[in-house]
Amino acid sequence: MSSSNPLRDPADRRLPRIAGPSGLVIFGVTGDLSRKKLMPAVYDLANRGLLPPGFSLVGFARREWAHEDFAQEVHDAVKEHARTPFREEVWQQLIQGMRFVQGTFDDDDAFERLRSTIDELDKAQGTGGNFAFYLSVPPSAFPVVIQQLKKHQLADQTGGSWRRAVIEKPFGHDLASAEELNKVVHEVFAPDQVFRIDHYLGKETVQNILALRFANTMFEPIWNRSFVDHVQITMAEDIGIGGRAGYYDGIGAARDVIQNHLLTVRGQYSAGWQGGAKVIGYLDEDGINASSKTDTYAAIKLEIDNRRWAGVPFYLRTGKRLGRRVTEIAVVFQRAPHSPFDSTATEELGSNAIVIRVQPDEGVTVRFGSKVPGTSMEIRDVSMDFAYGESFTESSPEAYERLILDVLLGDSNLFPRTEEVELSWKILDPIEQYWDKNGKPAQYQAGTWGPVEADEMLERHGRSWRRP
Ligand code: BG6
Repeated sequence: MSSSNPLRDPADRRLPRIAGPSGLVIFGVTGDLSRKKLMPAVYDLANRGLLPPGFSLVGFARREWAHEDFAQEVHDAVKEHARTPFREEVWQQLIQGMRFVQGTFDDDDAFERLRSTIDELDKAQGTGGNFAFYLSVPPSAFPVVIQQLKKHQLADQTGGSWRRAVIEKPFGHDLASAEELNKVVHEVFAPDQVFRIDHYLGKETVQNILALRFANTMFEPIWNRSFVDHVQITMAEDIGIGGRAGYYDGIGAARDVIQNHLLTVRGQYSAGWQGGAKVIGYLDEDGINASSKTDTYAAIKLEIDNRRWAGVPFYLRTGKRLGRRVTEIAVVFQRAPHSPFDSTATEELGSNAIVIRVQPDEGVTVRFGSKVPGTSMEIRDVSMDFAYGESFTESSPEAYERLILDVLLGDSNLFPRTEEVELSWKILDPIEQYWDKNGKPAQYQAGTWGPVEADEMLERHGRSWRRP
């Protein structure tokens, strides 16, 4: 279909958004993120017909790989991690545009080879000079890669083509380093060329918050301080740090997750039981120093200084090796101002709540009180559920599918801007500085819901954490 088709209104947002001629270069292509998320997302987009026919994928890394070895790696990653079924014809088309460039980040020859690879792809695949550079590399490597892109004219947008930089977190480790990094990036790329990844913004259930609030008369009027008691945002993981000791130690839960995905109490997991199996404590994990003070759990209370939310606390918590994997946002309402029932009738009644279930069981739950059937008056909590799996036939795209497509389309709505990144560090820096000066994180047993100090933090205000 072309845009001249009178039946196709370009403003119709239900139409598939298909990327124009383009390619993606991934730095750090041998890493975990690339294998588990980026390569599968590219394939899933191709499989859904959302990439242009000549789409090209270039891997850049130190390994001594030929193009075929790289293609084989992508193939294996796709087979293992892609969301949609493997289709040979899609794969055969995708493989036409796959190239590998071998080199280190300070190697000028390698960047020259990257430049000629892009020129070659423009001719062979019709990519039109439009390339996004995905920096899936440690933060220490950002400046050199950005500088190399500049030095070898890879950031230049000539003849109507575009060049974009996609930057993975962590975007700095405090405000000063984030400002420094922003400076380095913006010396080479204009703000509209920079896409900083916070993959939570690409999650279907997170975008649905907009629909829930603004498309429904029954929710929007109560979405404020007059009705809401507090909001709880939980991002619990059952996994430990896996093989990520090098990245995680010294970074910790607050920097890893709260600064970007959610954004105080901090904790560190000790040995315990998870899903019937005994698991080791953080300090015994491979690659972790036995005296590490890194937090694997963090809970903080924030308030929003505006008219809608003044006085409503937002409690945020995240942790590794918690009871189970669940991410949810619970909007907890005030109790009814007056109860015409005996207090014994409402003993089992909690607060009304709207719970946005981000993952893994995607949906929304509304919790309210109902009379228990019988001859006496007793009121208890019940819930009404909307589950994605029951209401929609199609499974939700992975966050990275959505975000990579947005990069290729040049749509930066779901990407944090410089100001947002810097502000999030301004919030987190004083907390980290306080932690640095004040002892060690509290211990919590693996498989539990975090340190008791986190429970006490809410109990002080007469509230409690939900047990999802
Ligand atoms: C990443 C963190 O940003 O998010 C990881 O670095 C965490 O530590 C991950 O495990 C969780 O993402 P998801 O999409 O699996 O909830």
